Amino acid sequence: MEFRLPRNSRPVQGVTHRAPGARALRTFRIYRFNPDADGPPRVDTFEIDARSCGPMVLDALIQIKAAIDSSLTFRRSCREGICGSCAMNINGINRLACTTSMQDLDAGIRIYPLPHMPVVKDLVTDLTNFYAQYASVKPWLQALTPAPPDHERLQSKEEQEKIDRPAACILCACCSTSCPSYWWNSERYLGPAALLAAYRWIIDSRDEATGERLDELEDPFRLYRCHTIMNCTDVCPKDLNPARAIAEIKKMLAERSG
Ligand code: SF4
Ligand code: SF4
Ligand code: FES
Repeated sequence: MEFRLPRNSRPVQGVTHRAPGARALRTFRIYRFNPDADGPPRVDTFEIDARSCGPMVLDALIQIKAAIDSSLTFRRSCREGICGSCAMNINGINRLACTTSMQDLDAGIRIYPLPHMPVVKDLVTDLTNFYAQYASVKPWLQALTPAPPDHERLQSKEEQEKIDRPAACILCACCSTSCPSYWWNSERYLGPAALLAAYRWIIDSRDEATGERLDELEDPFRLYRCHTIMNCTDVCPKDLNPARAIAEIKKMLAERSG
């Protein structure tokens, strides 16, 4: 078994950008990969004066891009933990750069792309498979009964509360890319984010495809590769619990067959 990355994927020491005279010095070691350049990825070092930007890791990345190296590539949009696009590995943990305060981290901050994903450039990973898996659970309402002509399909407060938390997923992929089962079987195991989405529709009182949804998941790889390691729940920046959702789906399948 190969435990190390192939030689041409192992990052080498890159360039260092110093910030002489910085009074609030923060050092960032950031993974860099340019598909158009020859050679392995590298880790560049950027020193910044933390007083020159906002308090979050994303503020520092934006500052580095604006003032030091405009080629630094990362995704971001909302800057408030809503869009899920700035997910990356910061000091060994998958998190959102926009909701991670520099103050809560050691002085030296290490930033890598989400683990075990193909890298498009620098901190941007290819999420094609992740989104395809999300789409595969049909994350929309399926109901044959026509909606009432004069109002929406209503739910009780209790019914809504059941889906309230699972529906808050922002598809950042922090969970799936921290899951060892997903690392080794990402082509066949759906991963915690897609399974949480499946669960959200399985328990929706308005949905009428519960049986078909469970049929689709009853598979040794799509669902049962989850070994309840719980990394997913530990890292979720929205405090969701995909591991519990997966356990609930397994329980429903067990009850159905028993
Ligand atoms: S609980 Fe399941 S989905 Fe979550 S990290 Fe563990 S194996 Fe992956
Ligand atoms: S469950 Fe949490 S960690 Fe996973 S994709 Fe949704 S918001 Fe991100
Ligand atoms: S930029 Fe939208 S979640 Fe961070």
